[in-house]
Amino acid sequence: MKRLTLISASTAIACGVGVLIAACGGHDDSITLTDPDAIADTRAAALVGQLTTDEKVQLVHGTGIPNAGFGGPFPSGVNGAGYIPGISRLGIPALSMADSAGGVNVANSNATALPAPVALAASWDPLLANAYGARIATELRVLGYGEGLGGGVNLTREPRDGRTFEYMGEDPVLSGTLSAARTTGTQAQKVIATIKHYAMNDQETNRMTSNSVVDERTMRETELLAFELGVKQGQPGNVMCSYNLVNGIYACEDPYLLTSVLKTEWGFKGVVQSDWTATHSTVAAALAGLDEEEPGDVGDTSALGFSLPSYFSTGLKAAVTAGSVPMSRLNDMVQRKLRTMIRYGVFDSPPTPGGAVDQAAGNAFALQTAQQSAVLLKNATPANASAPVLPLSAASLSSIVVIGGHADVGVISGGGSGAVPAAAGNAVSGCTSSSPLLSTCATWYKSSPLTAIKAKAPSATVSYVDGTDANAAATAAAQADVAIVFATQWETEGADLTTLGLPSNTTDTFNQTYDQNALITAVAAKAKRVIVVLENGSPVLMPWLGNVHGVLESWYPGVQGGQAIADLLFGDINPSGKLPITFPQQDSDLPQATISPSDTTVNYSEGLMMGYRWYDAKQIQPLFPFGFGLSYTTYAYSGISAHADGSGNVTVTFTVKNTGSRAGAEAAQVYAKLPSGLGEPPQRLVGWQKVSLQPGQSQQVSVSVPAKLLSTWDAANHKWKLNAGAYGLVAGASSRDANALTTSVSLAGQ
Ligand code: BGC
Repeated sequence: MKRLTLISASTAIACGVGVLIAACGGHDDSITLTDPDAIADTRAAALVGQLTTDEKVQLVHGTGIPNAGFGGPFPSGVNGAGYIPGISRLGIPALSMADSAGGVNVANSNATALPAPVALAASWDPLLANAYGARIATELRVLGYGEGLGGGVNLTREPRDGRTFEYMGEDPVLSGTLSAARTTGTQAQKVIATIKHYAMNDQETNRMTSNSVVDERTMRETELLAFELGVKQGQPGNVMCSYNLVNGIYACEDPYLLTSVLKTEWGFKGVVQSDWTATHSTVAAALAGLDEEEPGDVGDTSALGFSLPSYFSTGLKAAVTAGSVPMSRLNDMVQRKLRTMIRYGVFDSPPTPGGAVDQAAGNAFALQTAQQSAVLLKNATPANASAPVLPLSAASLSSIVVIGGHADVGVISGGGSGAVPAAAGNAVSGCTSSSPLLSTCATWYKSSPLTAIKAKAPSATVSYVDGTDANAAATAAAQADVAIVFATQWETEGADLTTLGLPSNTTDTFNQTYDQNALITAVAAKAKRVIVVLENGSPVLMPWLGNVHGVLESWYPGVQGGQAIADLLFGDINPSGKLPITFPQQDSDLPQATISPSDTTVNYSEGLMMGYRWYDAKQIQPLFPFGFGLSYTTYAYSGISAHADGSGNVTVTFTVKNTGSRAGAEAAQVYAKLPSGLGEPPQRLVGWQKVSLQPGQSQQVSVSVPAKLLSTWDAANHKWKLNAGAYGLVAGASSRDANALTTSVSLAGQ
C-alpha cells in the first residue's frame, strides 16, 4: 500500500501544489498529492518536526503592535497591527498583519477606503463581496501584509453598537454568506483572511469585561450560524476570538466555542487568534484551543517600557516544559499556523513591503461598490408634481441647494481599527477644534457630493449652505427647486451610540456643530422638494420622515462616495441596495432598552428574536424593514413553487419581472416560516438571488435552501434538527412585502 512520506523541511519549502511528494521527499513509496489541503498539511507537519520548542513558541504569538510602537523591533516598512517574525533557517517567512475591514488600515499607505462592510451587506451581492475581499487583499499584499484582519460578522443584535459599520447586518445567512464570499476573494490573492470577533461580541460598552449571557439554541441559530457559514464555505485561515466573556468564560479560553464547535464540529483547520489583548491565560487558553496570542510581546516588556500581556511567549514555554500544556498542543498550534500560510500562498510567496497601491483601480472599485450598496428608502411625489422626486432631472432644475454634512468637501467614515486613513491629499477635517483626541475625530474623505452634483447639473445654480443656521438653510431651501440635506452619523470601535437619533452638537460634540434633526425639520417646512442623504454606519431615526420627499441611505460610502451619491440622485445609477438591518421608529423599540454603562452582564433575553425576528414576533412596525429598498423601476413577482428532496433540501422557484422603464437589479428574497409550536420567530431569511433585469425582462429565480437553514438547534441533544411539518415559503422584495408570494412544503423531518 502506498503511504505518504513526511519530507524534510527544506525540501518541503520547494514543494508545491500538484507536485510529486515522492520527488520532494525522495521516497518511491510516496503518493502524489494534488489536494492543496493535504499538501499544506503534509508540508506543515514536516516543518513542525524540524522546529525547536523556542521556535515553535515564536510562531504562536505576535511581538507587539508596529503601528502603535509597542513591542518589536520591527523591520522597516512593517506598520500594521501585528507581526510574527519568521525562522529563516527553515525558510519560514515573517507574517505581517493589518486591519482591513473596509480597506487597509495603515497610515500613509494610500490604501483605498471602500464603502464600509455594512454597505457591502446592503448590496446583497456575493460576487461583489468576493471582489471586495480581493481588492483589499491586492492592496494588503502590495503593501507587504500577508494577513488581513477584516471580515467582522458579529450580528447586529444591538444597532447602537459602535462597530455596526464594520459588520454585515442582523441576519446570519446574509452575513455568513457574504463573509464566505469575501474570504474566498481575499485568499485567492494569497492573503490570509480573518473572520471575527468570535463570538457574541455585539456591543462595545465594557467590551473587555462584559459577559454575554446567551442560551445554546440562541447562539447556534443566530450569531454562531453566521460564523458557521463563514467558516465552512469561506475556509478562512484565521478566526479571531473576542474580548468578551460568553456565559462566564472568556471567549479566547472557551473550550466549547474554540474546540468543540469551531474545530471539532465545523472542521476548522486554521488558526484561532486572540483579539488584541484578549488572551487572559496560558494553560486555560491553550487547552481551550487558542492558537495564537495577539499582539503579544517579545520579552514581556514593550518598547514603551510597559508590558503587553504575553501568555504565549515565555509563559507558554514554561507551561510546555512543565507539562501543563502538552507538546502535542503546541505542535497543533504551529501546524495550524504553517498549514494556513502554506495553503493560502503566504509561505511560498511572502509579500514584501514597499509597493504602491493602484489608486485608480481602487477608486474604480470603491465607486462601483458605493453605487451598488446605497439604499433608496423613500421616493415620494411632491405636491404639484407628477413624478417621484427622484431621480433628479438636471434639465428641469434651475436651482439646487445642498445643505450640511460637510457635503461641500467630502464624506464621513467610521473610526477605530476598522477605519481606513485618507490617502495623501485626500483628508478633510470635519472635526471641531475642541476634540482632545484624534480618536474622537471622524475621518472625512475628499469626495465632495457638492462638486459631483454641480457636474450633473451644469446649467443650474447649485449653492451650498453649511447647516449651522437652520433658518438660513430653510430660507435658501425655499428659494431653490430642490434641497438636498446631508446628514451624518459617526461611530467608532470602543464606544456605542447612546441613541439612533441623528447626532447633534450635544451627542457628538466633536463631529457635529448643530442639531441635524432640527435642520432637516426646518428645511422640510420651507422647501418645495427635499431629499435627505444619509452617511452612517448604524440605522438612524427619522422623526421628519413624513415631511421629506426622498431619503437615500449611502452608509459610509468610501472614497468615491460623493460621486456615487450624485450618480444615484440623478439616475445614472439605479439604486439596488436593500437594508441588512431593520431601521426602528424609536430607540425604545429595540430589544435592549438602553446599554448599561455599568452592568457588565449582557443578557440576550430576547433569545432567538434578533433583528427583524424581534419586530416580527412583537408585531412592532419598523420605520424600514429588513430587506427593504426601492428602485427607479418596479418589479413584479409571480408563479411561486417549491419542492423538497428526500433530505429536506428545498428549492423555491418564482419569476421576477422588471415592470418599469429602467434597467435595474433586484435582490429577491426567500423567507421560511417554520411549523408552529417550535418556539421560532415568525420567519427567517433562507436565501436570495440578486437579478439584473432590463425593462420588461423576466427571469425565473431558483433559490436552493439547504435543510440546515430550515432546522432548529436541539439544545437537549446538541445538534441541528429538521422538524416534521408544513413550512411556509415566502418570496418577496423585503421581509415585509405586502405583495410577497407564498407557498409551502411538507417535510418529514429527521
Ligand atoms: C479590534 C480588532 C482588531 C485589533 C487589531 C482590536 O482592538 O477589536 O478588530 O483587529 O484590535 O487592531
